[in-house]
Amino acid sequence: MEASSMSLKMPFIVCLIIFPIVIMVTLMYQNASFGLFEGFSKGMAYKNVTTSDIGLGQNVTYDNFGEKKESDANLKSSKNISPTNSTNVSTSTPPKETIEDKEKLLDGLLVSGFDESSCISRSQSHLYHKSSPHKPSPYLISKIRKYEELHRRCGPNTIAYNEDMKIIANSNNATNVGTTTCKYVIWVPANGLGNQIISMVSTFLYAILTDRIMLVKFGKDKDGLFCEPFLNSSWLLPKDSPFWNVENVPTYQSMLEKEWSNSSNEDIPSSMFVDLRYSPNFEERFFHCDDSQYFLSEIPLLFFESGQYFVPSFFMTPIFNKELNKMFPEITPVFHHLGRYLFHPSNEAWGHITRFYQQHFEKANERIGLQIRVFDPNSTPHEIVMEQLLNCTLENKILPNVFSMKNSSLSSSDKKGTIKKVVLVASLYPQYGEALKTMYINKSTIKGEVIEIFQPSGEEQQKFNDNKHNMKAWVDMYLLSLTDVLVTTYQSTFGYVAKALGNTRPWILYHPITHNNNKEICDREFNLEPCYHYPPYHYCDVDGKVIENFAPSFPYVRHCKDYPYGIKLTNGSI
Ligand SMILES: *[C@@H]1O[C@H](CO)[C@@H](O)[C@H](O)[C@H]1NC(C)=O
Ligand SMILES: *[C@@H]1O[C@H](CO)[C@@H](O)[C@H](O)[C@H]1NC(C)=O
Ligand SMILES: *[C@@H]1O[C@H](CO)[C@@H](O)[C@H](O)[C@H]1NC(C)=O
Ligand SMILES: *[C@@H]1O[C@H](CO)[C@@H](O)[C@H](O)[C@H]1NC(C)=O
Ligand SMILES: *[C@@H]1O[C@H](CO)[C@@H](O)[C@H](O)[C@H]1NC(C)=O
Ligand SMILES: *[C@@H]1O[C@H](CO)[C@@H](O)[C@H](O)[C@H]1NC(C)=O
Ligand SMILES: *[C@@H]1O[C@H](CO)[C@@H](O)[C@H](O)[C@H]1NC(C)=O
Ligand SMILES: *[C@@H]1O[C@H](CO)[C@@H](O)[C@H](O)[C@H]1NC(C)=O
Ligand SMILES: *[C@@H]1O[C@H](CO)[C@@H](O)[C@H](O)[C@H]1NC(C)=O
Ligand SMILES: *[C@@H]1O[C@H](CO)[C@@H](O)[C@H](O)[C@H]1NC(C)=O
Repeated sequence: MEASSMSLKMPFIVCLIIFPIVIMVTLMYQNASFGLFEGFSKGMAYKNVTTSDIGLGQNVTYDNFGEKKESDANLKSSKNISPTNSTNVSTSTPPKETIEDKEKLLDGLLVSGFDESSCISRSQSHLYHKSSPHKPSPYLISKIRKYEELHRRCGPNTIAYNEDMKIIANSNNATNVGTTTCKYVIWVPANGLGNQIISMVSTFLYAILTDRIMLVKFGKDKDGLFCEPFLNSSWLLPKDSPFWNVENVPTYQSMLEKEWSNSSNEDIPSSMFVDLRYSPNFEERFFHCDDSQYFLSEIPLLFFESGQYFVPSFFMTPIFNKELNKMFPEITPVFHHLGRYLFHPSNEAWGHITRFYQQHFEKANERIGLQIRVFDPNSTPHEIVMEQLLNCTLENKILPNVFSMKNSSLSSSDKKGTIKKVVLVASLYPQYGEALKTMYINKSTIKGEVIEIFQPSGEEQQKFNDNKHNMKAWVDMYLLSLTDVLVTTYQSTFGYVAKALGNTRPWILYHPITHNNNKEICDREFNLEPCYHYPPYHYCDVDGKVIENFAPSFPYVRHCKDYPYGIKLTNGSI
């Protein structure tokens, strides 16, 4: 990382103004009540935790600013705080390192105390990403601190966990289960890595809302991709867990069929499998109803399998509404915050990312990401997709045009000082990068910009359950999140992850043939949230009428542009 390329992301003066406000807000929240989901934690031993026990959450701002921390020399030198300015105001402001910490911890989203060498990206990612204008609310931060505390107490290998798992494994019904200390939700993978990331974020938010611990079932395919997100504990479901294989676990659907609402306590199982994947069985789609949530809250261990971004359904669930509004006064960066909180590239992934960055991105004036997903090469041939990509990027001035004939008037020595744009192509198919390279090599652009094209991976086939493939996919996704201008493909969860981590509103390439009869080939995305492709189908009233129109019924959701059947969170005006 070269110091010169990094500029101070948050003006110093702004910090001076914001600092006392943050302190005030933090003090206000110290008196707020946190026990909003009493119904969910009834009888749970952790209910006796008071706000003052959760020291981290309450004092997070104080902690950030007040505590002097060791700071890596590289990080320090990359900052450019004017010494005159900072010395002049030093009596009333925290020392320099604490401002860096604030950025490093993503405005309080992350917590300090991790061993930095075991996960370098956690402390360095802020040097690579643009600074985010979206700030996590103090309430969201306090909820996350509270979650971490709970996870430390109930995570794998704790006394509570070991006892609870024994109880759950030995009981067929909830009668014996009233005594579990904690409740759990185990995330089960479905689909590719992009789908898995968006569904993990959804499961994590569910865990926060319902006072559960989230554990993830990671097979070998995800070994060494991510750091552990929770301080002093693990989110990995131990491979020797009796719940590694989900067999004979009653399904939510089967319970609905039995009309659980009439059943007595004896019939409530100790674990339940909730299938939130797309399925023609509409029963699962009552998940967003209060009744379902009260019922599920009684069950100590849930399994979620989804592959979807089902967060919008929480906003449609009345009992979650109040809490969500407090956590997310700004609605559209839900995934942006929770994704940046959970997913830190492992040191191996970070090595790939930073090497590419330093070799290609660092000296660029503009970084452009092109994510090209071809869902069905038979019905949408590569030539059509390529033509669409060029139409979209040239028309919208994302890529510059070249002289149509070879024009040697600009030799490479004349190009000094010209604008350099580096293009990262992320696609399973290497021909996109090749075609663009051929287009720009030895040719002049109209304004004389230098265009460099790189396509680090082109695997041809999406592979499932493949560790190397996942590593490439994760590195590509993350590199895309470091670009200034992003083009992604309709319906692609890969693109959803990149835009949200990087806080970039991308251009979306629509289906090249069917979308709007090809009248519109690409368009600017309207916010950072992923699209929930298969939203709830029914209202929760007695009749369970089909939801025809989301807009008037649910002010926070709209249909997606890239997949009109799906819905996404919006701030209400768009
Ligand atoms: C909560 O109360 C129970 C029973 O009184 C006790 O065993 C447990 O340690 C308490 N937990 C905390 C965090 O104080
Ligand atoms: C947290 O804040 C409270 C009240 O402001 C204070 O009494 C306590 O000492 C603080 N704890 C830590 C660890 O800083
Ligand atoms: C303080 O910083 C601001 C913004 O970086 C700059 O415009 C101003 O000239 C600086 N003042 C001094 C005295 O260095
Ligand atoms: C330092 O701050 C004072 C006001 O607090 C101001 O009058 C003075 O000009 C500042 N000095 C510099 C070098 O910025
Ligand atoms: C549930 O557990 C209770 C007490 O152990 C037992 O009497 C009852 O038969 C069990 N019900 C089922 C459905 O297993
Ligand atoms: C995390 O573990 C370290 C080392 O055991 C310990 O010093 C630290 O207090 C722990 N932090 C929390 C919040 O539990
Ligand atoms: C369930 O309870 C409702 C009323 O509470 C009743 O109308 C219905 O018949 C019951 N269903 C079964 C299967 O017992
Ligand atoms: C690209 O633009 C040309 C000229 O406007 C048009 O004829 C062609 O259909 C477009 N191709 C695609 C795939 O949109
Ligand atoms: C090549 O570049 C020169 C100078 O920029 C220009 O005058 C000429 O028309 C160009 N030739 C072609 C074929 O575009
Ligand atoms: C580009 O120019 C270099 C040096 O002039 C030459 O070696 C290379 O073959 C050219 N490539 C193409 C594709 O024209």
